[in-house]
Amino acid sequence: MIKIGVLASGRGSNFQSIIDGIKAKEIDGQIVALVVDNPEAGAIERAQANGIPYFIVEKKDCPGKGAMDRRIVEILKGKKVDLVVLAGYMRIVGRELLGKFKGKMINIHPALLPSFPGLEAQKQAFEYGVKVSGCTVHFVDEGTDTGPVIEQTAVYIGDCKDAHEVSERILPYEHKTMRKLVANFSKGRYIVEGRKVRYESGL
Ligand code: GAR
Repeated sequence: MIKIGVLASGRGSNFQSIIDGIKAKEIDGQIVALVVDNPEAGAIERAQANGIPYFIVEKKDCPGKGAMDRRIVEILKGKKVDLVVLAGYMRIVGRELLGKFKGKMINIHPALLPSFPGLEAQKQAFEYGVKVSGCTVHFVDEGTDTGPVIEQTAVYIGDCKDAHEVSERILPYEHKTMRKLVANFSKGRYIVEGRKVRYESGL
């Protein structure tokens, strides 16, 4: 059973997909902490509804460089987290935090990296006019959405009318990809060799 820490900033539907995977016994794990940087985050209600401990860590309460990350490290280490999932966490993770969880921190991005990194990936994809986009789960490194790719799911978006429709189209695939990946983490391990990631099942 792995101990999972989730960082989120918004509605928390990817966070919910992990909760659902645990309930369905696909994921052999427990979410021991939700950390949000925004007291309005919908993810908080999902934590409350499922008895998951949550922590609000706002930038304004953590003055100084690295202070916010240090507070988050304190929480995650205190809970003995094995895997940190960035599920719609809209902040750059600093060295203070990344250094403590390198190789144990994953992020979901709503595009097929290395295309459309950074903010508003779905809008970037729509405006570029690509016909296929999707989602990527990757290990977090020092760059913005540059870490080794663990899994990707392609989604046809060629008939989408706007960026909102692209987001709606991709989102359910994010949930499936996230749920499957965290399940895999709970039952085996991912080995990073350069940019390549391979899976070794523990079964
Ligand atoms: C998701 O689409 C996720 O891929 C994206 O934010 C949304 C969060 O939704 N993340 C990023 O853009 C990270 N750069 P959720 O709060 O419902 O999971």
